[in-house]
Amino acid sequence: MTEIRIDKFLADRTKYSRNEVKTFLKKGAVCADGVTVTDPKQKINPERQEITLSGKKIHGGEHIYLILNKPEGYICATEDKQHKTVLELVPEELRHKDMFPAGRLDIDSTGLVLVIDDGKLAHQMLAPKHHVSKYYLVTLAENFEESYLQSLADGITLSDGTHCLPVQTKQISEKICLVCLHEGKYHQVKRMFASLGNHVEHLHRVAVGSLLLPPDLPSGGHLEIFHKDILKMLKAESFPSMCEEILLAFSSYLINDRR
Ligand code: URA
Repeated sequence: MTEIRIDKFLADRTKYSRNEVKTFLKKGAVCADGVTVTDPKQKINPERQEITLSGKKIHGGEHIYLILNKPEGYICATEDKQHKTVLELVPEELRHKDMFPAGRLDIDSTGLVLVIDDGKLAHQMLAPKHHVSKYYLVTLAENFEESYLQSLADGITLSDGTHCLPVQTKQISEKICLVCLHEGKYHQVKRMFASLGNHVEHLHRVAVGSLLLPPDLPSGGHLEIFHKDILKMLKAESFPSMCEEILLAFSSYLINDRR
């Protein structure tokens, strides 16, 4: 990123308007490398300089990529009149106007959601040709039946006649399995298990591509990742090795919370 006016940078990277930013500047609330800046026209290089607003560091890289551990009760949207959105989980100093959740989890599902401000990447991730896999720990109401493995591997037909692509599945306990989806139809996991005569009690997304939800990230917590992590995520991963990693990483979740 080249040099940019500090008022434009702050208005782009925060929820504040250019006029509000000017007020902050006037009050002496903005610093570049620890030195107070009051002139809105002052040029800065956000990649090289540390810019703070009211003492909080404002992210200077070209794009922001965050992993969120979504709790129940939040929806994957940028705004909503009725429900809390995942953007409310992003701390104010990182939140800005161009951020959005890349992909969706239902209001009652939990786990990995990416919140980014990079439209090009979102397009790449969601394009069918990239097949970014999504991994879910699924807790069922009734016992997992062995016959599900073949039905899911063949591709389930949903109640409205929609055909699903083959799904890779591993049974973990009587009522828990790990599924890997290569597409994202509306309520897909819930509808697939409904077609099999079961009911999904809970869904926890634990990985997208090879990007694992950090198991120690608390519910509602966030972690900033970088473009290189995203590139790694987009590379093809293998189901058996992801299973191993996920079972290792989430052993305490499986033992303590969701038997
Ligand atoms: N499938 C569902 O049914 N719900 C989700 O939240 C994600 C996948």
